[in-house]
Amino acid sequence: MTVVIATTNQKGGVGKTTSAINIAYYLAKAGKNVLLVDLDPQGNATSGLGIDKDNLDVTTGEVLMQSSDLAIAVRPTGHKNLSILPTTPHLANVEVELASGNDKFTRLKSALESVEGYDVVVIDCPPSLSLLTVNGLIAAKYVILPVQAEFYALEGLGQLLETMKLVRKGMNPGLELLGVLPTMMDSRTTLSNQVYQEIKKHFGDKVFQNTIPRNIRLAEAPSHGVPVGAYDRWSKGARAYKAVAKEVEERLKVVR
Ligand SMILES: Nc1ncnc2c1ncn2[C@@H]1O[C@H](COP(=O)(O)OP(=O)(O)O)[C@@H](O)[C@H]1O
Ligand SMILES: [Mg+2]
Repeated sequence: MTVVIATTNQKGGVGKTTSAINIAYYLAKAGKNVLLVDLDPQGNATSGLGIDKDNLDVTTGEVLMQSSDLAIAVRPTGHKNLSILPTTPHLANVEVELASGNDKFTRLKSALESVEGYDVVVIDCPPSLSLLTVNGLIAAKYVILPVQAEFYALEGLGQLLETMKLVRKGMNPGLELLGVLPTMMDSRTTLSNQVYQEIKKHFGDKVFQNTIPRNIRLAEAPSHGVPVGAYDRWSKGARAYKAVAKEVEERLKVVR
């Protein structure tokens, strides 16, 4: 059975894409067959894995419009066991077109159900509570919620949790929060630690035991088109994501 996980937070710049790429990479490295779905019109997961967005004809957009099969649009990444469904900015137009269809919420779910052979699908959601994100939440079984360790970290999360509740009441009763992932932690600063305590207070055991430090290697890796583990695997950022991916695996074992 395929496990589908979405990285979501309607805020931009909190580490959704970085988490999606690197957790997907380390799950693949651990032997799982992984598909990363780029569901953000910005296509950061696509370029972050070194794929040239100007040379793509079939992408997430075509799959959602049902003009291409998912299996045709999926590409290898050059990393063992890791494939990607890439995206171009054109996905933003697709979202508008999609809005009139009566199956508009379930297009991604249907597409993912059409393929076999993946152990894990990781969906990188856009920074909004849009139709695309709802498609992600309906296609997924689990949510990983990256939260940036900064002052406004928890602001707006109520809205996301409310959206998850609505999705649960409606089309996807089984949707679960797999874990909350504090990102860009700077453990030397009081602020980071305060925000971490605040996150813990709200989410308790849902918070991953491993957190992601602020680490320049994580910011550099996308410009080389590779996950951090393939760029500098001994960096703090790489080791942190490896540990989180392990925790993800452990949590999946418990909850499945
Ligand atoms: N832990 C980190 N340390 C340093 N830079 C990071 C870290 N996580 C993400 N970044 C950088 O911050 C920016 C936003 O991260 P990204 O993962 O794209 O966020 P989102 O997908 O939520 O918009 C990117 O430039 C990324 O390279
Ligand atoms: Mg992103």
